Amino acid sequence: GWTTSSIVDDQVAKVAAQIGDGRAICGLSGGVDSAVAAALVQRAIGDRLTCVFVDHGLLRAGERTQVERDFVAATGVNLVTVDARERFLNALAGVTDPEQKRKIIGREFIRVFEQAERDLKAQGDYRFLVQGTLYPDVVESGGGEGTANIKSHHNVGGLPDDLQFELVEPLRLLFKDEVRRVGLELGLPETIVQRQPFPGPGLGIRIIGEVTADRLETLREADAIAREELTAAGLDQEIWQCPVVLLADVRSVGVQGDGRTYGHPIVLRPVSSEDAMTADWTRLPYEVLERISTRITNEVSEVNRVVLDVTSKPPGTIEWE
Ligand code: XMP
Repeated sequence: GWTTSSIVDDQVAKVAAQIGDGRAICGLSGGVDSAVAAALVQRAIGDRLTCVFVDHGLLRAGERTQVERDFVAATGVNLVTVDARERFLNALAGVTDPEQKRKIIGREFIRVFEQAERDLKAQGDYRFLVQGTLYPDVVESGGGEGTANIKSHHNVGGLPDDLQFELVEPLRLLFKDEVRRVGLELGLPETIVQRQPFPGPGLGIRIIGEVTADRLETLREADAIAREELTAAGLDQEIWQCPVVLLADVRSVGVQGDGRTYGHPIVLRPVSSEDAMTADWTRLPYEVLERISTRITNEVSEVNRVVLDVTSKPPGTIEWE
């Protein structure tokens, strides 16, 4: 059988042979796959790898730090962070339609990433692009035609002519659980390796209504509280993921301190699933729900109500947009 360390040795040798003395670029999303792919390639070619992380401003609390500080500390990788927060906010101004949001975020992401690639190409011989493609992705794109496209998921598609790269895909033969084991073997922190799924368009599709800087801040605070309490209750393994959604276009009356409030609801959407194709709503303990609700309404201004989504998938999707 394959041991994790033999997978690592094998892939590091393959990557070293493929890239030779060339240079490679790897986009980091904050997720498991790109982090493990980057760490493997870093093992193989050291500082001839440069990672690019786009901060689109739709990240959760602490995610940028996790990449800039924890991932860099664990791997010693070269990292370029592109701060594109203003750009994304401007592009999203006035937009409320979910598909429109997804398209804009996907389009802006590709533009920003391609600019970063051009900048690097001007500085050195970057001919390789690292991608965290897993075995199920390979199989899916082989026979994926005809699958119902319910929401447009964004992935980097075809590249323009001046940006030709040879792909490096060190995780192509691995399943998710193997990727996590390889990540641990490479010394990546648990917070990265065990991270639950999080959508590419980020918090942009968890604000029902227009995305603004203030609303992102509100949602970020509520989301951080929910995640903190779920982790403290030891529920991370049981839950597939728990989107936290801000109903920015809804207000309801409340009473806080000695005054009437007219604030926004936060929705908790904890789900249990094997593969995200179907999901069941997770029966969270009432005490945990109570703690989350009390903390969010006490600590997050603008929020005066917390509600629980008790819909399976189908008919509901996991995300609200
Ligand atoms: P839905 O909402 O379709 O989500 O039930 C299924 C899973 O996919 C994630 N998701 C995305 N992931 N880009 C991604 O990388 C996207 O645009 C996207 N939309 C949804 C979602 O979080 C869930 O895990």
